Amino acid sequence: MHTKHTSFGFSTRAIHHGYDPLDHHGALVPPIYLSATFAFPTVEYGAACFAGEASGHFYTRISNPTLALLESRMASLENGEAAVAFSSGMGAIAATFWTLLRPGDEIIVSQTLYGCTFALLHHGLGEFGIKVRHVDLTDLAALQAAFSPATRMVYCETPANPTLRLIDIAAVAELAHQQPNVTVVVDNTYCTPYLQRPLELGADVVVHSATKYLSGHGDITAGIAVSNQALAQRIRLQGLKDLTGAVMSPQDAALLMRGLKTLGLRMDRHCSNAQAVAEALQAHPAVQWVTYPGLRSFPQYELANRQMKLPGGMIAFELKGGIETGQRFMNALQLFTRAISLGDAESLAQHPASMTHSTYTPEQRAQHGISEGLVRLSVGLEDVADLLADIQQALAKCNGANLRPTTTSAYALK
Ligand SMILES: Cc1ncc(COP(=O)(O)O)c(C=O)c1O
Repeated sequence: MHTKHTSFGFSTRAIHHGYDPLDHHGALVPPIYLSATFAFPTVEYGAACFAGEASGHFYTRISNPTLALLESRMASLENGEAAVAFSSGMGAIAATFWTLLRPGDEIIVSQTLYGCTFALLHHGLGEFGIKVRHVDLTDLAALQAAFSPATRMVYCETPANPTLRLIDIAAVAELAHQQPNVTVVVDNTYCTPYLQRPLELGADVVVHSATKYLSGHGDITAGIAVSNQALAQRIRLQGLKDLTGAVMSPQDAALLMRGLKTLGLRMDRHCSNAQAVAEALQAHPAVQWVTYPGLRSFPQYELANRQMKLPGGMIAFELKGGIETGQRFMNALQLFTRAISLGDAESLAQHPASMTHSTYTPEQRAQHGISEGLVRLSVGLEDVADLLADIQQALAKCNGANLRPTTTSAYALK
């Protein structure tokens, strides 16, 4: 069976890429290589592995057959040349930053980012002499003006967590690549390669929290970086091997490959469920605003249609009455689980200002478009009627709350 053909469709590659059962005693499911170390047939061969002249596995922090299969599958799905697996999304992001940036360099980042990425930039890179500049990447003139001879990276999430603001990857990459030595890195966690493939749009590196949709079942933490051979190799040999050591366990790689088999099916369902929930929220009088790329009211609806296959499973909204009504709503939910993370089968609701984005100060949140009353939903795979019923009963419990209009939306960036 020739399972490396790139002509196969997305789901076929997510299930088969890089594996032939007949090479493994007929085992339909790939074996898990738990070994931390690997035997050398000769001392010369071992030396050649260390010198990068032979491609054999020798230590799992650098490579392992189970991780290698996952990595080749992820590279195929993102349409990159190579991937590197990590023990968490933050491991992948940190390793990419530490590999590609040096003191004195500048990194341009989009305005709104996942809270720990924001903390890594400001409390990590910032304190090691790397200048972090937040720029509204939807404004290409602002991006052009922000470049300096020291700029080495442009980094963004699209859609952004939690505001869902989009960045036009092709436009940003085109501008960034007019500068010498600038690498464009995109966090594709919210979309997965099923909905959006940044490398095809000109990005150089894609990073993922594979803890989310890619694995899809909330039972591992994992990260991935995908790029061309040369960059992936640098990220592996510096960022993974020496600078973070954040290696994924082979058991987690097996769980992640199990999740990938149903990625397309799951994403279709996440998206159709989220569309229905977003429309129900938009129609409700207690809702101040709702942001979802599948709504006609979404400010970047045209870009969403152009850049993403479907609008995703994440929703941001605020109730009239702001944070107090939002808390009342969240406490009334019975089927949605109050929890952080996203992309699981279970629908989840969380409050970014006090949870995932509490790494920002209140002033920084205001500056980065994260309103205090913003509620984030990760819409799961349950029956849509049950999800809608839960939303409606929780909204009904907000009756009697002070439903004074709030003014800020997740989009009202300064
Ligand atoms: C967009 C995004 N990127 C990166 C991360 C970090 O991933 P992990 O929690 O797997 O370290 C998260 C986590 O929530 C995220 O939402």
